[in-house]
Amino acid sequence: MKLGFIGLGLMGAPMAVNLLKAGYEVTVYNRTAAKAEKLRSLGATVAGSPKQVASNAEVIITIVSDTPDVHAVLFGANGVAAGLAPGKIVIDMSTISPEATVGFAERLQALGCDFLDAPVSGGEPGAIAGTLTIMVGGRKAAFEKCLPVFSVLGKNVVHVGESGKGQCTKLVNQIICALNIVAMTEGLLLAKHTGLDLEHTLQVVAGGAAGSWMLNNLAPRILNGDFAPGFMIKLQQKDLRLAMERLEGDEEKFPGAALAYELFSQAVSRGLGEQGTQGLINLMSEEFMKR
Ligand SMILES: NC(=O)c1ccc[n+]([C@@H]2O[C@H](COP(=O)([O-])OP(=O)(O)OC[C@H]3O[C@@H](n4cnc5c(N)ncnc54)[C@H](OP(=O)(O)O)[C@@H]3O)[C@@H](O)[C@H]2O)c1
Repeated sequence: MKLGFIGLGLMGAPMAVNLLKAGYEVTVYNRTAAKAEKLRSLGATVAGSPKQVASNAEVIITIVSDTPDVHAVLFGANGVAAGLAPGKIVIDMSTISPEATVGFAERLQALGCDFLDAPVSGGEPGAIAGTLTIMVGGRKAAFEKCLPVFSVLGKNVVHVGESGKGQCTKLVNQIICALNIVAMTEGLLLAKHTGLDLEHTLQVVAGGAAGSWMLNNLAPRILNGDFAPGFMIKLQQKDLRLAMERLEGDEEKFPGAALAYELFSQAVSRGLGEQGTQGLINLMSEEFMKR
């Protein structure tokens, strides 16, 4: 099966590397061309446009930033749609609007192609290790055909329903993750406030009922003063915006999500958008690391 891969960012680049290492023939495209060079050196064919990727491949994967970006890559000038032929499958692994996803699926079905929404969880470490959780919406037959590809990228791969349901599941994931980050941040702030040793506190609480992916992966980075992005604050804010759009009219029933959206939006306004999500602590306390 010939693969196409569009979007070689923090997530996309290691995912494409894993597909090459698994022996797939992969044609890649990235808007900023320089980011494709590492993939070329590992054996990928580098295309000049998403259209060229779609012409070269049977299954085309996209992982870009937001809904308008997926729209541009699929349907813009020299987009994927222009290079498709009936029977090809497009898999979008970005986190975007479920409603827009259904619309994209209808447009691609009209061309005789399947469209799977397959957003991921597990962050940059999961992308590198090939251990992502992948939540897939779309036709089951197309999902089954792509399962060998998904199995290279992730370890927990689940078909969750029709088109758009993968994205709905991802928004559930993102509300839980965002509130977890808020909780981790406030726990660390309380530890500092009460004069506890932060490393010891982390060690103890991470082994109890408060343990989480966030505590294991992000809290140590905070303690090291490392705010480089694995997942950017501005993208977490985007995911909470997508969740809030989904809740329109019912926001008061989701006070936690509303609070997290407000905090991540404030962090973006304060210029922290390109820090990793662990940088939320810099919104709460600029003094945190001066200890
Ligand atoms: N990082 C994580 O931990 C994580 C985890 C789960 C899901 N996600 C989701 O995965 C997606 C990608 O995240 P990321 O962290 O990899 O972001 P990133 O590092 O910012 O990469 C974004 C990629 O999308 C490309 N892109 C953006 N807009 C585009 C457009 N209009 N046309 C063409 N290409 C475009 C960028 O190209 P350039 O290089 O030219 O900018 C880059 O390759 C997002 O939807 C995010 O929410 C991320």
